[in-house]
Amino acid sequence: MDSTVLWKLSYGLYSIGVMDGEIPQGCIANTVFQITAEDMLAVSIHKENYTHLLLEKTGRFSISILTEKTPVRVIGRLGFQSGAPLLKANCAGHLICTITGSADIETHTVFFARVTQALMDEPLPVLTYDYYYNVMRGKAPKKAPTYRGV
Ligand SMILES: Cc1cc2nc3c(=O)[nH]c(=O)nc-3n(C[C@H](O)[C@H](O)[C@H](O)COP(=O)(O)O)c2cc1C
Repeated sequence: MDSTVLWKLSYGLYSIGVMDGEIPQGCIANTVFQITAEDMLAVSIHKENYTHLLLEKTGRFSISILTEKTPVRVIGRLGFQSGAPLLKANCAGHLICTITGSADIETHTVFFARVTQALMDEPLPVLTYDYYYNVMRGKAPKKAPTYRGV
């Protein structure tokens, strides 16, 4: 099997925000996708990410839609270690979601969620994984589904 064909799948990039008590926490995810024409979406989160524990605990999260203006260091900070999502600038929009179910997929859990609030933000081109990898020269860690082993 030529698993590099999987690299041809396209994604966006998002920051997932979830509350840890009073403290906002978050991580980067490329796996946000809309499931229905209305308000249902899904995100796949590695079971060892701290975000996973908080999603199970709170049942709620936010999604910030990253843009080509999102600094690569912000993605690096949230995508390789635990951190607070400070993403007020350079986002195309924000979604507030309530988890409605989940599916256990080996190393990851796919969380299904309903969007309860949607806020438009800056009119900037949204960030694709392809742009992040090829133009911004960003990488993905082992817990990201887009990890390429380098
Ligand atoms: C480009 C990129 C895409 C990522 N996509 C995902 C993803 O879809 N699901 C996931 O669980 N982790 C993904 N990650 C990895 C997490 O963001 C990373 O493991 C993070 O440090 C987890 O933080 P936490 O332990 O505070 O939750 C991605 C990271 C990057 C840089």
